[in-house]
Amino acid sequence: KHCILIGAPVDCGKRRQGCLMGPDAYRTAGIAEAITKLGHTVEDIGNLAPADVTVAAPKNPLVHKLAENIGWTQTLMAAAQEAAPRGMPIFLGGDHALAAGTVAGMAAHAQKLGRPFFALWLDAHSDIHTPDTSDSGNLHGTPVGYVTGRDGFDAFPPLPAKVETQNICMIGLRSVDEAEHAVLAGGDVELVDMRRIDEEGISTPLKAFLERVAAVDGMLHVSLDVDFLDPSVAPAVGTTVPGGATVREGHLVMEILSDSELVTSLDLVELNPFLDDRGTTANLMVDLTASLLGRRVFDRPTRDKK
Ligand code: ARG
Ligand code: MN
Ligand code: MN
Ligand code: MN
Repeated sequence: KHCILIGAPVDCGKRRQGCLMGPDAYRTAGIAEAITKLGHTVEDIGNLAPADVTVAAPKNPLVHKLAENIGWTQTLMAAAQEAAPRGMPIFLGGDHALAAGTVAGMAAHAQKLGRPFFALWLDAHSDIHTPDTSDSGNLHGTPVGYVTGRDGFDAFPPLPAKVETQNICMIGLRSVDEAEHAVLAGGDVELVDMRRIDEEGISTPLKAFLERVAAVDGMLHVSLDVDFLDPSVAPAVGTTVPGGATVREGHLVMEILSDSELVTSLDLVELNPFLDDRGTTANLMVDLTASLLGRRVFDRPTRDKK
């Protein structure tokens, strides 16, 4: 594989600052070295900056830094489409607002190739608000709303390719706002909350989803939010929710994804190094990325290929 690291120091998707340090924390934690060691090639294009846009005041007065969020969406949508033909883009966030651009850009790329596009959302949150339904005004809670073509994003770049809700799987859910619940309950996004993980194990719903992707030769984007993980093992995030995935569940997900060979792009989001404990969260995110790219304790020939 050729992995393309794209620094996206997006910090405008919420009020608490610090995610702008994310890309450099991943570099400091040795992400390039870890990937190279697995036999892949790595290209780091450095950090991007948001396009300079001006917009009218948002309808919802709570909305925080609308213009900057739109500028980032524009920049990252283009960056994804530029990088995707050359390799596997890995977006080093930055908060989750960046996924509006990365996911929309990857979906546009898949459309160009005529391949179905799928997204796996590893997150405590569903992030399917619109700027109008958000009760926090924090746009990191809206990227899924944008990429699925919900109303209320008129000031944003037009969507080149809408992501089908039935092509999205969310794993790790334990904090879903009322307005989000209303959309999800009547919809067809695959929802895997912590109870399902506890009762079925995390591999069962994941493998079922991957089978659907494989059946149609789909491209799969993975968006990994630090708060997917339990705060006790991943403290460096502003939106901690207790009762998250364990280190072992995190690695298992990544190993199963690796075996599937379906993943074509990755977001690492919401890392706030200012809140970290001696780099433990940054290191864990790098280790999870390594598992996704083939790091193993022992190989399991044929058995795990299934
Ligand atoms: N649902 C909450 C909100 O809209 C939290 C969103 C958290 N999103 C995230 N990407 N961490 O404010
Ligand atoms: Mn999120
Ligand atoms: Mn989250
Ligand atoms: Mn809320």
